Amino acid sequence: MNMVVSLAGRDVLCLQDFTREELETILKTAEMMKIWNKIGKPHRVLEGKTLAMIFQKPSTRTRVSFEVGIYQLGGYGLYLNAQDLQLRRGETIADTARVLSRYVDGIMARVYAHKDVEDLAKYANVPVINGLSDFSHPCQALADYQTILEKKGRIQGVRVVYVGDGNNVAHSLMIAGTKLGAHVVVATPEGYEPDERVVKWAEKNAAESGGSFELFHDPVKAVKDADVIYTDVWASMGEEAEAEERRKVFKPFQVNKDLVKHAKPDYIFMHCLPAHRGEEVTNEVVDSPNSVVFDEAENRLHAQKAIMALVMGGIKV
Ligand code: CP
Ligand code: NVA
Repeated sequence: MNMVVSLAGRDVLCLQDFTREELETILKTAEMMKIWNKIGKPHRVLEGKTLAMIFQKPSTRTRVSFEVGIYQLGGYGLYLNAQDLQLRRGETIADTARVLSRYVDGIMARVYAHKDVEDLAKYANVPVINGLSDFSHPCQALADYQTILEKKGRIQGVRVVYVGDGNNVAHSLMIAGTKLGAHVVVATPEGYEPDERVVKWAEKNAAESGGSFELFHDPVKAVKDADVIYTDVWASMGEEAEAEERRKVFKPFQVNKDLVKHAKPDYIFMHCLPAHRGEEVTNEVVDSPNSVVFDEAENRLHAQKAIMALVMGGIKV
């Protein structure tokens, strides 16, 4: 890891906005947050600070890990269901951002359209953190690479294979992985590839980091010699109407015991959760000794505490 860099005041919307050194600073801080929790060392570095948490969609992990995380840092989190805000009655995102900035020290938002977090960030004068949009899930990818680093001892050169829909989770995994020097492989059905912009970024990032990026339509070829197999739901929130059609298209991309045979024997299985067991992954894989999904979920807490502490000024480097 290289030297640490300051992130005070930054928005966290898409990891492509961050350098490798910045991502490594977050991962290093996340490791420290985890150690502090495990040894019971108080770390109230955001004493008295507040975080508004806006949710347009349901959540278990993001909501609980942010709320517990800000509390452990000495601050307070306000859960705001977008349906209960004046947003529902037509108040603009811009005005909401300006008003919230007068009360709170940071905003985390889970939205449908990525533009909504971009607009929040544009008009707020406190840091805005993307808690999942239709384009990216940066907090998830940071927790994912924290987990990969713990389990594999490195990120550089690790073969990370994502099988399934080229969605928000895939985008952030591709961006962070290629910035951090991983060999990222994505296998999707035709027509469900990641966004072309993200593919271009991944190729550029890989050329700079010594990693690589490959896109396949054959899951068996993709998982060959994988260190990590990662999957996510076939229909994301907001795509419920397509769920039945997608179940047919994605069937050959199910992560099951036949597919994982092609990976390295010590591969790890990852999933952002929630899992649709029996669809994108079978019980025998998600419940196998190779599965690290609950460590990955735990790391959301540590990674997001690192993000909050760094961008909300609790840890100055
Ligand atoms: N992985 C994730 O973001 O989970 P939630 O939808 O439960 O927040
Ligand atoms: N791709 C999924 C991730 C949920 C955490 C979705 O957007 O619904």
